[in-house]
Amino acid sequence: MHQKLLFSLLLCATIFVYTNAGTSLLLKDPIPAISLEHIDPTLPPVVLAGETPRCSVLVLQQDFADTFGSPPAASNYTLPAECPFPWTRVILELSVFATDLQHDRVAAIWVGGAEVLRTATPRPMAPGAFWRVQKDVTRYSALFHSLSNGGSGVISMMLENSNVALPGVYSANVSLHFYRGSTHSVQSQPLLAYTSHPTIKGLYREPADLILPVSNPDGYYESGFWFRIDNDSAPGSKSITIPPNTYRAVLEIFVSYHGDDELWYTNPLRSSYLQQSPAVSFSTPRANGAFRQVYATLDGRFLGGHVPYAVIYPGAINPYFWSPVAAIGAFDMPSYDLDLTPFLGLMLDGAPHNIGLSVRDAQSFWLLTANLHLWTDPWSDHVHAGLLEYFAPAIKMNRNAEWRDRDGQSEIDAEGLVRFTGWVSSSKGNLTTQVRQKIKFKSQVEVQNRGTLTQIEVQNKERMMVAIQQGHQVLRRVQMLAEAPLQLQTSAAAAAGGTAEFRKARLYHQLVEAMSISEGQVVETSTLTDRQDAEGTELVRGGAGHGGGEEMVVWGSGSTRSAYRYKDGSRCYLRTMNAAGGVVVMDTKTASCAAVAEA
Ligand SMILES: *[C@@H]1O[C@H](CO)[C@@H](O)[C@H](O)[C@H]1NC(C)=O
Ligand SMILES: *[C@@H]1O[C@H](CO)[C@@H](O)[C@H](O)[C@H]1NC(C)=O
Ligand SMILES: *[C@@H]1O[C@H](CO)[C@@H](O)[C@H](O)[C@H]1NC(C)=O
Ligand SMILES: *[C@@H]1O[C@H](CO)[C@@H](O)[C@H](O)[C@H]1NC(C)=O
Repeated sequence: MHQKLLFSLLLCATIFVYTNAGTSLLLKDPIPAISLEHIDPTLPPVVLAGETPRCSVLVLQQDFADTFGSPPAASNYTLPAECPFPWTRVILELSVFATDLQHDRVAAIWVGGAEVLRTATPRPMAPGAFWRVQKDVTRYSALFHSLSNGGSGVISMMLENSNVALPGVYSANVSLHFYRGSTHSVQSQPLLAYTSHPTIKGLYREPADLILPVSNPDGYYESGFWFRIDNDSAPGSKSITIPPNTYRAVLEIFVSYHGDDELWYTNPLRSSYLQQSPAVSFSTPRANGAFRQVYATLDGRFLGGHVPYAVIYPGAINPYFWSPVAAIGAFDMPSYDLDLTPFLGLMLDGAPHNIGLSVRDAQSFWLLTANLHLWTDPWSDHVHAGLLEYFAPAIKMNRNAEWRDRDGQSEIDAEGLVRFTGWVSSSKGNLTTQVRQKIKFKSQVEVQNRGTLTQIEVQNKERMMVAIQQGHQVLRRVQMLAEAPLQLQTSAAAAAGGTAEFRKARLYHQLVEAMSISEGQVVETSTLTDRQDAEGTELVRGGAGHGGGEEMVVWGSGSTRSAYRYKDGSRCYLRTMNAAGGVVVMDTKTASCAAVAEA
């Protein structure tokens, strides 16, 4: 994903270790061995500690060597008869081993063309690096259910790797674990709350009955199921026909960003961009500022969107920050839900409709797919629905930029509010669903000292509300607040007689999600705070300013503090992890609510 070549960390004779107080120590030999296991320090994904799955199936085993431009790896699989539907949980496990040094890569796993995981590989800094991603995929039960009566399905995985510059081969195993019987959280918790992962924003207790992929139908043979989005005017789209007895619909969008938009959240807004016409300005990469909105359309009509969470890739900013600790969301990249229930009246006519996916202000390129989760009414052949309110004014944008040569500053402020209301009349009655979303976004970029000092600040806030009403009575209301601040300071200085550059970076980013679900008199709440603070240095040779060619990191060091706090009505969890110089120097976990409250 990144244009830098990484030299072995073992080449360096000294390593800086940042202590908690932020001071640095200089360690003399011996050099500590770097951790081979890469870790995402979040909640244990399976809240089923101590429970064993009813069955586990290894569904795909593949070595990804020179796979650039190849179709995804695919395998047919059959679910074991001793593991019949329904399941209380289904867990996907991706286990990867890297034979040698390699760049970080993006990867995805699809079941029958519907995406179930978007992930970034860490950047292996030594042969033998390995990691494991576990994801609760109960939400996709319908995909597995369709195979459960002796049927078989195709699971595919794409990981475009290259051995031109680096020898590393990624060996991957994909397994599914099926759980049956009671699990302590099933009764008391909404099945699909984001408890196991910060960003699964599923709002419903029951998984969908049917999942239709909104992805590239030629995915098995060509360059994967994802749609490549180069700009706002070329959306990915697919024609979809939904069953006439659908009473609820949620579109889940997966994204990752590459090329000119790999670091979109740091992009400055250049004055030249403001002065040019939109057609011209797209030809000026990385100049249109840091606002992006992932959105969907139905037959061309806007259905809502989200400002994505800025997942930092393992090669980004300073690769030593992310070894061996993954950045927030890097192993299991967030997907974005849009509740389309208010729009069912436009889709229930039995005719095909076009669902479009795009990214506002995108530069080349983004990879998008979506899953349309549908709930059907077994007691009705046809349900009826209508749109009552469609309120989607343009986002209020304020853009300012002042630049003189390489120095200057820019600012983007964005505020938006949408409201969609629709009724659906099924065997459950005539229910009204209202969706309300408010977004507030701010990006500030300041560059000083002839381009050598950069200060970046991003604020990204969203409030979502989905309420289901019967007449004037609210049956169920889900409210969510998400906040994602990011601060980054970088500096660069010439080194080694001008043949190299010494870079320093300091980063803070966070994801806060507070959720409340009320049903009658019962209110359930949960909060999650995931925070990382990192600082480090790099000595880089080559690159544009130093004779061209690929940049080479000659030497580097970084330290990262991670703190993951989760709390709901019955459970608490706190995990703090400090890593420095490629090793974990502290790792604590506790389920004590007192500790969570204090942290
Ligand atoms: C899966 O099975 C189908 C039909 O039996 C076959 O055509 C296809 O080649 C198989 N795919 C893989 C990846 O084994
Ligand atoms: C994949 O599974 C095989 C067989 O169980 C095992 O030998 C191998 O070590 C596994 N690889 C990874 C990366 O987990
Ligand atoms: C947008 O992307 C499409 C597809 O890659 C391309 O054909 C088109 O020229 C692009 N438009 C602009 C304005 O850059
Ligand atoms: C359902 O309720 C809405 C208003 O809340 C009304 O406009 C619609 O006609 C009702 N539909 C049916 C089938 O009763």
